[in-house]
Amino acid sequence: MAPGLLLTDACILLRAFPQAIGDIVVSLDEDLESVRRRYNLPLDVTHWATFLISRTACCFDTFATTAPYEITHRKALLQELYPGEDALPDRLNAFAMNVNGSYAECRVMNDQFRMLYDGYFLHLNVTERTVIEKAEVELDTTREALYNQVADVLARTVEWEGCLTVALTDKGHRAYMEGFEQRRAWAAETFPRHVNEVLEALCGLVEERKRLSDEASAVWDEQVDGFHQHTSISRVPVPELCSALNPYSRILQQLSAQSVTQKSLVSKLKASSSKSVPRRWD
Ligand SMILES: *[C@@H]1O[C@H](CO)[C@@H](O)[C@H](O)[C@H]1NC(C)=O
Ligand SMILES: *[C@@H]1O[C@H](CO)[C@@H](O)[C@H](O)[C@H]1NC(C)=O
Repeated sequence: MAPGLLLTDACILLRAFPQAIGDIVVSLDEDLESVRRRYNLPLDVTHWATFLISRTACCFDTFATTAPYEITHRKALLQELYPGEDALPDRLNAFAMNVNGSYAECRVMNDQFRMLYDGYFLHLNVTERTVIEKAEVELDTTREALYNQVADVLARTVEWEGCLTVALTDKGHRAYMEGFEQRRAWAAETFPRHVNEVLEALCGLVEERKRLSDEASAVWDEQVDGFHQHTSISRVPVPELCSALNPYSRILQQLSAQSVTQKSLVSKLKASSSKSVPRRWD
């Protein structure tokens, strides 16, 4: 008897393939669904591009309306608080440098104390040791608290210096205007072009895998018909089984390539969408 699989076993084996293909298609669709939920997009992927582009345009419009107002408003406020003061960013910076400098001095003194402590501790009597040990603990705590406060001052200075520069200096205003024009160009040209490209490719993938899934089902239906017509056969010869598997193997390869392409398209989409969040100027 020719080697081969019992017809029922062959059926069970082959049936697993269109099922696996269906599962892969579902999981690729689910990956897109999570993108859809994350970015709050319409159900139909062919509408995503229009949606994303108009949302970005809307964000830019909001920014374009509110930012100049905010800047003017803050500028007036600052001038009211510090009349005649045109060097606020420099003053703020000088203040921060002063704080940082004092902290550096404090550290030098702390190091000196450490050296003296290590050198003289053994020469002290019991009462003195108790006093100095207590002082050491307090000093450590204070130094740590001071370190955190200085770091906080420096971080805030960086943040506020930028804001003050934009609101109060010509240089800052020019940089802001440049950024503004770049954002405008990005929202009106770069982003739409990019999103259209990525989404065209993504829609292509969705269509292709729907076709592949239908094809797998069609192949399977045909195979079932074939087996029913040859009920006299109780075994499927190995070569026949191999050629029955061929179409599935080709489809699986295509889906595996799809999964790589889809991942890269989705990360491109995420990268460009994250830029659409407006920067804050307040
Ligand atoms: C603060 O001072 C330290 C050392 O004195 C220096 O390394 C650091 O760059 C200074 N930080 C800033 C923001 O100037
Ligand atoms: C420790 O030394 C200090 C000053 O040198 C002195 O006043 C104190 O009486 C001494 N205490 C003891 C317990 O020896």
